[in-house]
Amino acid sequence: MARLVVVLFSVWLAVAPPASAQVALPFVGDELRRVLALGPWPPAPRIDPGNRVSGQLAAIELGRHLFRDPRMSPVGYIACVTCHQPDRSFTDTLARAHGLADLPRNTPALANLNQQRWFGWGGSSDSLWMASIRPILDAREFGGSAASVTRLFARDAELAACYAQVFGVSPLSRPELTLVNVGKALAAYVETLTTGRTPFDEYRDALARGDGAASATYPVAARRGLQLFVGRAGCIECHRGPNFSDGEFHASVASSANAGGLRFASDGGRFDDARSLQASPLNLLGRHNDQAGRGNAAATRRLLVHDGLRGQYRTASLRNVTVTAPYLHDGRVEHLRDAVRHTDGDLSAQELDDLVAFLTTLTDRDAERRPWIASAMTTRCP
Ligand code: HEC
Ligand code: HEC
Repeated sequence: MARLVVVLFSVWLAVAPPASAQVALPFVGDELRRVLALGPWPPAPRIDPGNRVSGQLAAIELGRHLFRDPRMSPVGYIACVTCHQPDRSFTDTLARAHGLADLPRNTPALANLNQQRWFGWGGSSDSLWMASIRPILDAREFGGSAASVTRLFARDAELAACYAQVFGVSPLSRPELTLVNVGKALAAYVETLTTGRTPFDEYRDALARGDGAASATYPVAARRGLQLFVGRAGCIECHRGPNFSDGEFHASVASSANAGGLRFASDGGRFDDARSLQASPLNLLGRHNDQAGRGNAAATRRLLVHDGLRGQYRTASLRNVTVTAPYLHDGRVEHLRDAVRHTDGDLSAQELDDLVAFLTTLTDRDAERRPWIASAMTTRCP
């Protein structure tokens, strides 16, 4: 009897029109094309040709280890995981990061970075390995140097053997090269951190297949939010493509009102960071690019630093945005609903709610505790 009730109920479920059908917002034509362009997900794995150990399991494993090792900092208690905490979606819940000293910016969740070509809020790095070296040298983060990184290997023979296995040279012979290679191993690890599939991805794929029944289960409010997102609210001008980021820099409302009680009054954003990128020997124009001047190097050479870049920041990806508060480059915004208002568009309370309902469907199942790599490891190193 109970089984019959269940069967009848399932039949009813299958036949009854879903509640959402009453407020169907069919995506057609250009609008549909824009929605479909927000996928598919996940993207095909990408190898970074400027990093010769990109995609190599032993390097990924070495990077995974170094990411967690507090001996990487001369003080011995700060590691990458101090700020990029794996069980907090690789960020730290602070408004602004704190290492040996305060930093003026929010710690970004390290996710889907193989989809970007500039790194950091203002693009101070043109490769992921350069961005992985930056915190080692920054006096407010590790306060380290090529010499301090090399000392770590001098004191740990097992780790040194692992390094030698990955790079084919001893870590002790040329400290400057060791620092760069450590950055490349860290980057090989960080580029494996991809977010998972979300309710939005299921919906988008159902639309792509023309599967009406599957797409009908997507919440109505989220559908209205999505329509705003790709339409009148203009969000996809910048938050576009499967990673919801064009990878470029735009003026942020948050940058103009820098007074807001912050102690850090002058953050030049893209202006400062493009300048420091061009001046650095670690950029892709330098000799550590394994692709000799190619890849993003041309873009770095062409960069024209002018006043218009002040206050610009890289478009944030919106995947898993529900679990990475606080928001914006300086963490000034606590709630997602307020972060949505960072552009000066005119949005009603209802529209804000709908946009938040949509953004909520960009959260994957493992958002808060992110597994560090999809494929099974075969190498144990160190
Ligand atoms: C004290 C906190 C702190 C520590 C420690 C730290 N980071 Fe970060 N990380 C940040 C902050 C803040 C930023 C943003 C920097 C900026 O925009 O100028 C950042 C940015 C990054 C980025 C660029 C992300 C993006 O979205 O483009 C990468 C990659 C990165 N960190 C990797 C690392 C690695 C690898 C380590 C360890 C060697 C590390 N971080 C240690 C706080 C930290
Ligand atoms: C002109 C380009 C542009 C448009 C249009 C735009 N954004 Fe953004 N968005 C950005 C940039 C740049 C940032 C990072 C700004 C900062 O940190 O100061 C950002 C940040 C965000 C954040 C915070 C993410 C985080 O991790 O801190 C959210 C949420 C967001 N945008 C949602 C939206 C929504 C929803 C819309 C449409 C109503 C929209 N954006 C329109 C460029 C844009």
